[in-house]
Amino acid sequence: MAEATPSLVVERLGYAWPTGHCALNHCNFTIPGPGLWMLVGGNGSGKSTLLRLIAGLLTPSRGCVQRPLKPALVFQNPDHQLLLPSCGSDIELSLPDGLNPPERRQRVEQALDQVGLSGLRQRPIHSLSGGQKQRLAIAGALASDAQLLLLDEPTALLDETSQQEVLQLIHSLCNRSDAPLTALWITHRLDELRWCRAAALVERGSVGPWQSGSDLEKELAPLPAGRPEG
Ligand SMILES: Nc1ncnc2c1ncn2[C@@H]1O[C@H](COP(=O)(O)OP(=O)(O)O)[C@@H](O)[C@H]1O
Ligand SMILES: [Mg+2]
Repeated sequence: MAEATPSLVVERLGYAWPTGHCALNHCNFTIPGPGLWMLVGGNGSGKSTLLRLIAGLLTPSRGCVQRPLKPALVFQNPDHQLLLPSCGSDIELSLPDGLNPPERRQRVEQALDQVGLSGLRQRPIHSLSGGQKQRLAIAGALASDAQLLLLDEPTALLDETSQQEVLQLIHSLCNRSDAPLTALWITHRLDELRWCRAAALVERGSVGPWQSGSDLEKELAPLPAGRPEG
C-alpha cells in the first residue's frame, strides 16, 4: 500500500561522539507509514544513539532526519522518566499548553484509559508494577500528542505478562483505525519480532533493509541480553 507522507526519513545519517567514536555510519531508511516497526541489534551497534538522533536530543554529524510527526521517547527503565508522585500529576507534565483545567483533567483521564490504567489518576507511582509504570510512561507520550513513539527496549526489565501487555498496547495503538500511531521499537527479545509490521537489523552503526519480523526472527541466533541503562 503506497502511503503519501512517510512517518520518518533518515538519510545518510552519521554520528560521532565527542570522543571521536563513530556510533552511526551512513544510515538510510524510511518508515513509510503508521504501524509497529522494530530494530534489533547487538550491544553497542548504535540503536540508542539512533533513537536519540531521531528524537532530536542529539545533532547529526552528517546527513539528516526528516520527521514530520511529533516524537516521544520511552526508555527501558520507566523510573528514569516518571518524575512526579502521582499518575495524574506525571501525565499533566506532558500535556500541551493552552488547555483549561477541565480539559487538562479530561486529557489525563483519556490517556490513562488508553493504556489500561483507568481510575488510577491519584495513585502514587511507587505503588505501580513495572509494567504499569511503563504503560504510564506511554500515557505521558500520548498526552503530549506524540504520533511517533520511539521505544528503547521498553520490555527489557519486565516479566512476561507485563511484556505482553506493553507489546499489545503499542500494537493496538499502531493498528487502530482512527489515527494509528507510528512506533519504532528496539528489542533484544526476538519473540517480539512477530508483532511488527517490519523489522531491520542494526549492525556496526548501520540499519539493514526492512524485512518481515518472522523472517528476521528465524535468521538471528539469540542475541545476548541488553545491558541495563547506566
Ligand atoms: N555518551 C557516550 N559517549 C561516548 N560514546 C558513547 C556514548 N553513548 C554510547 N556510546 C558509544 O556509542 C556506540 C553505540 O552505543 P548505543 O547507541 O548505546 O548502542 P546500543 O543501544 O545499540 O547498545 C557504542 O560504541 C557506545 O559505547
Ligand atoms: Mg541501547
